[in-house]
Amino acid sequence: MLLVLQPGKDELGRVAARIIANSVRRNPGLRLGLATGSTTLGMYRELARLHRDEALDFSRVTTFNLDEYLGLSASHPQSFHHFMQHNFFSHVNIPAQNIHIPDGTISGEYERYCSTYEQSIREAGGIDLQILGIGRNGHIGFNEPTSSLGSRTRLKVLSKETIDDNRKFFTASEKVPECAITMGIGTILEAKRILLLASGPSKAIPIAQSIEGPVTASVTASALQHHPDVTFIVDQHAGAQLKHHDYYRRVLEMTAILTPDRL
Ligand code: F6R
Repeated sequence: MLLVLQPGKDELGRVAARIIANSVRRNPGLRLGLATGSTTLGMYRELARLHRDEALDFSRVTTFNLDEYLGLSASHPQSFHHFMQHNFFSHVNIPAQNIHIPDGTISGEYERYCSTYEQSIREAGGIDLQILGIGRNGHIGFNEPTSSLGSRTRLKVLSKETIDDNRKFFTASEKVPECAITMGIGTILEAKRILLLASGPSKAIPIAQSIEGPVTASVTASALQHHPDVTFIVDQHAGAQLKHHDYYRRVLEMTAILTPDRL
């Protein structure tokens, strides 16, 4: 586990973008797992800049998004399809056929749809680099507390906390989605490398629980302790409850000397 501590949200977005860009340069056919959410915005902005100013080429990259709200069409302003199009895909050169996001408009045959999504990840050769955010309740993707740590892509009922967090993005007359399609914890853990981004004081407790607490379905991000290659990129607010800062700093310094291409 690597922990990269940054002063604020903008800096962590730039660090994540640099790691992604280096991975794409090393492997132009990178299979990239993507997340949405406010924490990822700076990262997508920086990737778009690298494409524009430094000719970072995404033409052979394949992407798989973690999740989508059930019941929202791709054109709904709060759908993750719309988020991705607006904040990333419209600014870079990933071919449309290489982009995969769960379809929020399906109705019925959910299991079949979700296993097809899993199959498309497998057929692409698996995910090389998975980007994650973290919810206030410690969720990754929409794997809410008590989700099975072996779960696969499936329909998931959202927790009240997540629904309340999302309410501000919908108009008063709109119903806030209560379900989502999300990759499971088991799906996420199969990615070769994982980057988790967290910013702000509301993430301080889930970050400390995920990194230094017990592995528990009550904080699904804690399952990342079972993954051999996770990098947490957090700002000082999200890292405020961690106890072993000194050790994380030394690990980072050694990494910069011994394996600088990882950063
Ligand atoms: C979104 C996702 C969620 C978010 C998390 C943090 O695709 O999978 O797990 O990453 O809810 O969201 P923000 O960054 O808005 O705090």
